[in-house]
Amino acid sequence: MADDTTTPRTDGGAGAAGERTVTMRLWRGDASGGEFVDYVLPAVEGEVVLDVVHRVQATLAPDLACRWNCKAGKCGSCSTEINGKPSLMCMTRMDTLPTDEAITVAPMKTFPVLRDLVTDVSYNYEVAKRIPPFNPRPKTDDEVAAGGYRMQQIDVERSQEFRKCIECYLCQDVCHVIRDHEENKTAYAGPRFFARSAELEMHPLDATDRRELLQEEQGLNKCNITKCCTEVCPEHIKITDNAIIPLKERVVDARYDPVAWLGRKILRRTKGTAAAAAATAPAHGPAAVQPAVEVTGIPGPQRR
Ligand code: SF4
Ligand code: SF4
Ligand code: FES
Repeated sequence: MADDTTTPRTDGGAGAAGERTVTMRLWRGDASGGEFVDYVLPAVEGEVVLDVVHRVQATLAPDLACRWNCKAGKCGSCSTEINGKPSLMCMTRMDTLPTDEAITVAPMKTFPVLRDLVTDVSYNYEVAKRIPPFNPRPKTDDEVAAGGYRMQQIDVERSQEFRKCIECYLCQDVCHVIRDHEENKTAYAGPRFFARSAELEMHPLDATDRRELLQEEQGLNKCNITKCCTEVCPEHIKITDNAIIPLKERVVDARYDPVAWLGRKILRRTKGTAAAAAATAPAHGPAAVQPAVEVTGIPGPQRR
């Protein structure tokens, strides 16, 4: 028979006399519905939320589903909403949360629930497939003679910020454009993929122009720069300031700035379109970077 520490308590009450406890209010359920269930455990010094969820699994609810891998903030697997804020469970210290009330842990709201704290994030993989991959321009004669491309350090650093992304999709989760409007998912790439497009678009060697695709198919114009995505990014990528706003400026340049248009003509800086890049892309390659046969639209998430 289970002893006191292995019996779920759903009343949120205190433990044994003098024992410091913590109440974890975890969402339990699946796509058909669910509810929050309280689990009361002894408080342990130095834990992160993932530690406590693991203790719930080990002692109170062995059938609790949660996703994790590295426990070091690097795999992007343990994304949930902790006390309502999109967060990594492995990087949220218990001593940063209020101790006088239950700590809620819920699955990410923007994606369909598979079970308990685990969501189906395949929408993001579908969007990723629609980002035209890196398309380096041909080398100049000077570059061939020099043995390869040359890049300025500032250009390397600009892309490097976006390459820190661990694909936790917390920014996608918090973005109200798809969080509150499921219907937008067919025509909105979201902050993680605006950052990916910025990384490619700002690359000095890339020869694909993604601006029309961003505006017409990936919903860049729907972002109203609330910066919520930047606030939740565990890698502190300045998604709004360094990716989205510069992309919006480039779209405006392309459409409405006659001086920029003339400059591109004179300096021959015009890039190929995303559709042209897709047409000449190799037939085989990793699905995540392979362009769609037609670079148009974003499929909605697959529902079970
Ligand atoms: S800044 Fe734009 S992409 Fe980021 S959360 Fe707000 S609306 Fe979404
Ligand atoms: S940009 Fe930041 S919040 Fe968005 S998926 Fe990457 S690491 Fe996560
Ligand atoms: S377990 Fe890898 S980021 Fe949390």
